[in-house]
Amino acid sequence: MATQRVGIIMNGVTGRMGRIQHLARSIAAIRADGGLDVGGVRVWPDPVLVGRDLERLSRLGEAYGIERVSTDLEACLADPADTVYFDAQTTARREEALALAIAAGKDVYCEKPSATTSGAGYHLAELAEHAGVRNGAVQDKLFLPGLLKLADVTASGALGRLLAVRIEFGYWVFPDALGATQRPSWNYRAADGGGIVLDMFCHFRYLLERLFAPVEAVLCEMATHQPSRVDEVGRTYDATAEDAAYAIFRLAGGAVAQVNASWCTRPYRDDLFVIHVDGTDGSAVAGLHDCRVQPGAATPRFVWNPDETEDVTPRRSWLEVPERRPSGNAFRHQWELFLRHVVAGEPFPWDLRDAARGVEVAELAFASALERRWVDVPRTDR
Ligand SMILES: NC(=O)c1ccc[n+]([C@@H]2O[C@H](COP(=O)([O-])OP(=O)(O)OC[C@H]3O[C@@H](n4cnc5c(N)ncnc54)[C@H](O)[C@@H]3O)[C@@H](O)[C@H]2O)c1
Repeated sequence: MATQRVGIIMNGVTGRMGRIQHLARSIAAIRADGGLDVGGVRVWPDPVLVGRDLERLSRLGEAYGIERVSTDLEACLADPADTVYFDAQTTARREEALALAIAAGKDVYCEKPSATTSGAGYHLAELAEHAGVRNGAVQDKLFLPGLLKLADVTASGALGRLLAVRIEFGYWVFPDALGATQRPSWNYRAADGGGIVLDMFCHFRYLLERLFAPVEAVLCEMATHQPSRVDEVGRTYDATAEDAAYAIFRLAGGAVAQVNASWCTRPYRDDLFVIHVDGTDGSAVAGLHDCRVQPGAATPRFVWNPDETEDVTPRRSWLEVPERRPSGNAFRHQWELFLRHVVAGEPFPWDLRDAARGVEVAELAFASALERRWVDVPRTDR
């Protein structure tokens, strides 16, 4: 089989997402499997790991069998042999690095959010489109096993007319030294691009739009429940970004979606992320791995009677949706689609323009919370 090497500049891979999801479970995993078969050609990702600390990068490279490391991003961008730039740096650093990579003619792929403002997000999309480079941003939740099953259910029409969606996301992020390394401290500082609205609402936007219908309006309340937290080196700092958001979305077609996202909640549910959908002909509930449905014909006829201790157990009447296709790591799945897009021009709708729409919904939710009002999402197809 012929081999086609794809040189990838990977920036931010010493971080949590970059190292675990993108390097270890995606690029290194594809290499460990002998590359990616694209129409009989073996695509071989050949990364150069970029960052600030050569020693850390070298140790990381050794751990995953990658020889090329560098602290000089500009030199890497100037090398025509590496045609793809990938960014998993902290959010606030992404815009500048992506713009440099696009100007250097690289195909670009990045973590979400693509930028800290929608203006910057749409500008990056325009730059990439004018430069004619392939581009994309992570929308990993679409490729989680539970949500792939839910997508099959909604696409089949089995739920009928969509009525309402409820999303519960979150878990307890320790504010004190007990959990200092659980999530990076910049997540709780507004000036560093932190905050749960910017972090999570781009996920909610693409999930709602791709599984159900586009978001037309948002009403959001947010809170900084923990006013101070302890950082990676044990110092107490002021939390300046919101750590919880409670939102309602109006979707095209009239359905309502409610979303609770919190790093200050102790979940009592089947998963850290759960999405519940009610339709006229059935309902579905999906977590990260599983999906269950209750067809209309199997809906129990409950009668409200709090005086009886009768065993009601609503969960009993739900059916497990079986796995119809193998689903591995969600990030790897999307990386493979991006590599196919780069080498064979296969479709990749999760581009920077789509990513900017997610940043825009986050921005509008933020404005809704500050101004204490419903905010419409502009209809213009930007
Ligand atoms: N898709 C998802 O589900 C998901 C989940 C969590 C985070 N993210 C996104 O991934 C990105 C990274 O998040 P993380 O949790 O891995 O953060 P992290 O703090 O663990 O990693 C950040 C990376 O940026 C680098 N970096 C930070 N400051 C830098 C500087 N001044 N110069 C050069 N490099 C610098 C760090 O060295 C590290 O490699 C964020 O944009 C975040 O929104 C996505």
